[in-house]
Amino acid sequence: MNESSSKSLNVLITGASRGIGFEVARRFAAMGNHNIAAVARQADGLKNLKNACIKENIQAHLYPIAFDLSTSDPYDTALLPQIAQFLPLVDILINNAGCLQNRPFEQLSEADMIEMMQVNFLAAARLTRAVLPLMRNGGHVLNVSSMGGFQGSQKFGGLSMYSASKAALVALTECLAEEYKNTPIAFNCLTIGSVDTEMFRQAFPGHQAQHQADDMARFVADFALNGTRFFRGKVLPVSVSTP
Ligand SMILES: NC(=O)c1ccc[n+]([C@@H]2O[C@H](COP(=O)([O-])OP(=O)(O)OC[C@H]3O[C@@H](n4cnc5c(N)ncnc54)[C@H](OP(=O)(O)O)[C@@H]3O)[C@@H](O)[C@H]2O)c1
Repeated sequence: MNESSSKSLNVLITGASRGIGFEVARRFAAMGNHNIAAVARQADGLKNLKNACIKENIQAHLYPIAFDLSTSDPYDTALLPQIAQFLPLVDILINNAGCLQNRPFEQLSEADMIEMMQVNFLAAARLTRAVLPLMRNGGHVLNVSSMGGFQGSQKFGGLSMYSASKAALVALTECLAEEYKNTPIAFNCLTIGSVDTEMFRQAFPGHQAQHQADDMARFVADFALNGTRFFRGKVLPVSVSTP
């Protein structure tokens, strides 16, 4: 797969109602004739995304799927039929949805901890498992993790469960790459640095992020398209500061 190809690809991305995921979906729409299914809870955000994609490309194929990834309902029955309605086969799955509570460890509620593990880690595992049977040869599962989950990176107080959930996503990527190494499906993980989004602004008020969302999204979208030519089973730190 590469961007110069005129082939229409089927792209599934989570967490696309705002922030990095929104910009990644918009970038795919701007590229041409890809089919993009976008998952998030907020229907309004997905509607904004659809409008933004059409503004980029009047013929954009953007299919919004309003869905709470933290549900305990089986994805096979609760989500997969909605995806398959738009994308009978999938070329690229980008597990990008995430949530963050910046709180001292002992002040984290049970609900905070469960939500971060559900959305940041389990959702990616459950969606990947559900979608794998639909993946086309040459498919790419790209997980969006964080520098906080990268081994040996600088750690920050208040981010214990968030970083642990992102580290779990890193380990999942490496394990799936091993388990599926003899298949035509590639798994990679980007552990990204700070990006100016709602998540960052809420968690770190007054701080300056390293990147703008559209800038990071350009990298993520290009990597999702072209990364498998050079990387399989890799965990790549995407940060201008030293881990
Ligand atoms: N921003 C940073 O500095 C930074 C740094 C490192 C890693 N990351 C990672 O990058 C990814 C994108 O982050 P962002 O900064 O763009 O965050 P954001 O602006 O808060 O967007 C998060 C996205 O995830 C979706 N989401 C959250 N909970 C969900 C749920 N239960 N079900 C379905 N969708 C859900 C949100 O949509 P709804 O609210 O509509 O559901 C939203 O579209 C995340 O995985 C994040 O951990 C971000």
